[in-house]
Amino acid sequence: KVVAVIMVGGPTKGTRFRPLSLNIPKPLFPLAGQPMVHHPISACKRIPNLGQIFLIGFYDEREFALYVSSISNELKVPVRYLREDKPHGSAGGLYNFRDLIMEDSPSHIFLLNCDVCCSFPLPEMLEAHRKFGGMGTLLVIKVSAESANQFGELVADPVTNELLHYTEKPETFVSDRINCGVYIFTPDIFNAIEGVSTQWKDRADLRRLSSFESLHSATRNAPTHFVRLDQDILSPLAGKKQLYTYETLDFWEQIKTPGMSLKCSGLYLSQFRFTTPHLLVSGDGTKSASIIGDVYVHPSAKIHPSAKIGPNVSISANARIGAGVRLISCIILDNVEIKDNAVVIHAIVGWKSSIGRWSRVQASGNYNSKLGITILGEAVTVEDEVVVINSVVLPHKTLNVSVQEEIIL
Ligand code: GDD
Repeated sequence: KVVAVIMVGGPTKGTRFRPLSLNIPKPLFPLAGQPMVHHPISACKRIPNLGQIFLIGFYDEREFALYVSSISNELKVPVRYLREDKPHGSAGGLYNFRDLIMEDSPSHIFLLNCDVCCSFPLPEMLEAHRKFGGMGTLLVIKVSAESANQFGELVADPVTNELLHYTEKPETFVSDRINCGVYIFTPDIFNAIEGVSTQWKDRADLRRLSSFESLHSATRNAPTHFVRLDQDILSPLAGKKQLYTYETLDFWEQIKTPGMSLKCSGLYLSQFRFTTPHLLVSGDGTKSASIIGDVYVHPSAKIHPSAKIGPNVSISANARIGAGVRLISCIILDNVEIKDNAVVIHAIVGWKSSIGRWSRVQASGNYNSKLGITILGEAVTVEDEVVVINSVVLPHKTLNVSVQEEIIL
C-alpha cells in the first residue's frame, strides 16, 4: 500500500492570498471550478495501490468536513483531515501523525504541498524512486535564474539524479533547478525527522547542563519541535545518497497570491482537455452562450445566450450572467450577479458580488504584480456604468464611482 499526505497549512498562513482567504481556507479556493486541494487529491487517484489520503493542517476540522466526506465518496478512497493544534512545520506536522499514517504499514508516503499547481506525475515519480532506491525523491523543475530564489534551489547529479546540494530560498544564486514541493518517501523519513529533533534536544540539554539548569525544566518534555522539511531535513541529507530528484518538463507554478490563482485556474482548465473534458463547456449548443477556449461553468449557473465567455473563465454555483456580458480570464464565485452588457477581464469576482449594467471590471493581467488583476471581495457592489481597473476591493463595499490602481478598504 501507498498513502498520500497533503500539507494544507492553516489560517495564519496564506496571508498573501487576502482578501480571498478572509472567506475560505486557501486550500478550498476554487481553481477551474474545483477546490485548490482537489487537484492534487485527484492526481493521487492515479497512484497504484493507494490506501488513504491525509490532509494535515491547523484549520478547524469543520472547515474541511464537507469537502473531505464528499471527495472520499467520489474517489472511493478514504480522505481524512488531521488537525494540528498549532503549526509544527512541514516535517513536524507529518511526524506528529506518524502512527495514523503508518496504520496500514504503507511502503511509500507521498507528501504534497497544497499550494502548487502542476500535472503531479506521481506514478512516474514512484517508478523513478524505486529505481533510485533512496529514502526520498523530490519533484524538481528548471525555472528562470531570476525567479529561482523564491524557492528551494538544488543541485542534482546529472547521471545518478542524486540530490547533491539543497538551499532554501538562497540570497545568492545556487541553481535554476528548484523544489516543486512534491515528494515521495519511504517510512524512514520518520527516523530522519526524529533524528534532527533528538539532535536539537540533546544540544539544548547540553546547553542547560553547562549553565547548571535543571534537566527537568519544561522544555525537556516539550512536544516535537517545529521541523521544516526543506531546511531541516533536505539540506542536511543532500549528498548522502538518500535523496534523489525527478525532473518534470510539464507545467508547474506556486499559488501564493490571487493573481497566481487566476493563472493556475487557466492551467488546470487546459489540463481538463486531456484529463476530464466533460468538465469543460463546449460552445456547440446553438442556444447557449458563445464559448471561447477553456471554460468551466457550474451546472447551477444561469448564463444568457447572448453572453460571450472565455478563454480561461470559471463560473461557480448560482452565478447569473446577463445579456451581452463579456467575460475573459476570470473567476466568478458563487452567487455573483453580472448584469447586462458588463465586461470582466483579468479579475476575480467574490461571492455574492454584483456588477452593474455597462460596468467594466478589469486589469492588465500581469499575474505577478499586486494590482495586475482586479479582485472584488465578498458581497461587493459595483453600480451601473462604473469602471474598476487594476484594483482590489475589500468585502462589502459599494462602488458608485470609477477607480483605478486603488485598494479600497
Ligand atoms: N499542516 C501544516 N503545518 N502545513 C504547513 C505548515 C505547518 O506547520 N507549514 C507549512 N505548511 C504547508 C503550507 O500550507 C504549504 O502547502 C506547504 O506546507 C509549504 O509551505 P511553506 O513551508 O510555507 O514553504 P513555501 O511554500 O514557502 O516553500 C516550500 O515549497 C516550495 C514549492 O512550492 C519549500 O519547500 C520550497 O523549497 C519549495 O520550492
